[in-house]
Amino acid sequence: MVDGGNLFFSKSQLHASEQERLLRKARVLVDGYNAMGVDAVALGPLDFAAGFTALGELQRQAQFPLLCANIVHRDSGVPVFQPTAVVRRGVLRVGLIGVVDSALGARGLGPGGEDYRVEPLFSTISHYADELAGQCDLVVVLSAVPMKKFRLLAKKLPTVDFYVAGDPQDKLRIPWTIGDAMIASTTQLGRYLGSAHIVVDGGGKWVTHQFVPMKPECRDAPAVKRLVDGYYRDAAVSRLQTPGGPAPDDEERVNLVYGGAVYVGAAECGRCHGDAYLAWQRLPHARAWQDLPEANRNRLECLECHVTGLGRWGGYGHPGAAEEGPNLVGVQCEVCHGPGSLHPAVELASASRAQVVKRCRTCHTPARSPKFRLQEYLSRIACTQGEHAAATLPAGAGSVSKQ
Ligand code: HEC
Ligand code: HEC
Ligand code: HEC
Ligand code: HEC
Repeated sequence: MVDGGNLFFSKSQLHASEQERLLRKARVLVDGYNAMGVDAVALGPLDFAAGFTALGELQRQAQFPLLCANIVHRDSGVPVFQPTAVVRRGVLRVGLIGVVDSALGARGLGPGGEDYRVEPLFSTISHYADELAGQCDLVVVLSAVPMKKFRLLAKKLPTVDFYVAGDPQDKLRIPWTIGDAMIASTTQLGRYLGSAHIVVDGGGKWVTHQFVPMKPECRDAPAVKRLVDGYYRDAAVSRLQTPGGPAPDDEERVNLVYGGAVYVGAAECGRCHGDAYLAWQRLPHARAWQDLPEANRNRLECLECHVTGLGRWGGYGHPGAAEEGPNLVGVQCEVCHGPGSLHPAVELASASRAQVVKRCRTCHTPARSPKFRLQEYLSRIACTQGEHAAATLPAGAGSVSKQ
C-alpha cells in the first residue's frame, strides 16, 4: 500500500495562523497510515510547506518511510530522506523509489530548504532503478511530478514497471500504458483507491488496474475512524473558540456536517433527556429497523429511512456499525435534531420545531407514507408532548394505525 505524495498539505505555503492546525492534521494522517499498515509514501512538493524540521518529526512518528531519492545535502550530495524501499509480498520483492520534481528547486523546499538541493529526475530514477532491478521482481516509482513528465520518463526508462502518481488533479483517469509500464493516479480526498494486480512469471509481467470507490457501505476501520472523528471534533471546537479564524479547507467542507459533530446514539441523549428517551422508545421510530423484514435489514435502499445518519459523517455507515460505535438503528433523536456529539456546547442542527419538521418529508414520502398529515403525525412524536409525556403515553402509543 503506497501513496504518491502531497499527503500532508494541500498548498505550498502555510499561513502562520493555520500552521498548528494543519500539522495536527498531518500527524493524524501519519497515525492513520500507521494503523493501515501503509508500506511507503513519496514526498511531493507540497509536503515541504511546514519545513524540514516538521517533516523530520513526521518521519519519526511514521512506521513507514517517507521516500525521496533526489533531495540531497548541498555539500555532501547525500540524500536527506530514504531514497528507496524494498517490500516483500509472498515470493515477490517490490522496489519502490520516491522522487520530487526537479523543477521544484531549493526555494520550493520551504523553511530550512537552503541547505539542500534537488537532483535531476531522470538520472536519479535511472540510477536507483538499475540498482533495484538487480534485486527486485518489480520496480515502482512514486512521485507527484506532472503527468506529462511521467510519460517522458516511461518512454526513456525501461527498468521501471509501474508509476504511482501523486498528481493533485481531482479527476479520475484511466491509467496510461507506455511501453511495458503503467502510470496510475487516484483522486483527492480518498474517494478512490487504485488497485494494481501484477502477475510476474519467467516470461514477463502483466499489470491490470482498477479503481475501488470508497462508498459509505465500505466498512470503516474502527481505529482509523476514531482518529479522524477526534480530529474533526477538535477542529470544530477550536474553530468555535476562534471566531473569524481560517475557513475550513475542501476536505473539511466535505466532512464537516454541523460543525463536525458525529452521531452518539439515543441512549447518550437519554442520559440528560431521560423522559424524552423513554417516550421515544415506545414509538414506532425506535423500532424502524427491527420492523424491516430480516432479509432487508442490510439493504441500502431500505436503510436510508430506517436507520440514523446513513452515509453521513459519523452516522450509520454500513451494516453492522452498531457493533463498535453507538447503536444507530431505527429513527433516533439525531435523525430529527442532527448529530449531537458537540451538544449542548454547540447548538444542534435542528433544535426548533420549524427546523425539525422540514425533515419529516424526506422519509414520509407520498409513496412510503400515504397517510402522512404533518400536524397529526407531529402530535404523535413524543418530544412534542410538553413534558415528553413519558408518564402518560400508553405502551405502544403511536402504532394506533396497526391496531
Ligand atoms: C450532557 C447532557 C445532555 C446530553 C447528553 C444531551 N443534551 Fe440536549 N440539552 C441539554 C441541555 C442542558 C439543554 C438545554 C440547553 C439550553 O437551553 O441552552 C438541552 C437542550 C436540547 C434540545 C432543545 C433545543 C436546544 O438546543 O436548546 C434538544 C432538541 C436536545 N437537547 C436534544 C438532544 C439530543 C438529540 C441529544 C442526543 C444527541 C441530547 N440532547 C443530548 C443537555 C444534554
Ligand atoms: C423514503 C424513505 C423510506 C424508504 C427508502 C423505505 N421506507 Fe419503509 N417506511 C418509511 C416510512 C416513512 C414508514 C412509515 C409510514 C407510515 O406509517 O406513515 C415506513 C414503514 C415501513 C414498514 C412498516 C412498519 C410497520 O410494521 O408498520 C415496513 C415493514 C417498511 N417500511 C419496510 C421497508 C423496506 C423493506 C424498505 C426497502 C425496500 C423500505 N421500507 C424503504 C420510509 C421508507
Ligand atoms: C421524528 C423526529 C424526532 C425525533 C426522532 C426526536 N425528536 Fe425531539 N423534537 C422533535 C420536534 C418536531 C420537536 C419540537 C417540538 C415543539 O417545539 O413543539 C422536538 C423537540 C425536542 C426537545 C425540546 C422540546 C422540549 O420539550 O424540551 C428535546 C429536548 C428533544 N426534542 C429531545 C429529543 C430526544 C432526546 C430524542 C430521542 C430520544 C428526540 N428528541 C427524538 C422531533 C423529534
Ligand atoms: C429517517 C426517516 C424518517 C424521518 C426523518 C421521520 N420519520 Fe417518521 N417514520 C419513519 C419510519 C421508517 C417509520 C415506521 C417505523 C415502523 O413502524 O417501524 C415512521 C413512523 C412514524 C410515525 C408512526 C406512524 C404509524 O403508522 O404509527 C409517526 C407518527 C411519524 N413517523 C412521524 C414523523 C414526524 C412528525 C417526522 C418529522 C418530525 C418524522 N416522522 C420523521 C421514518 C422517518
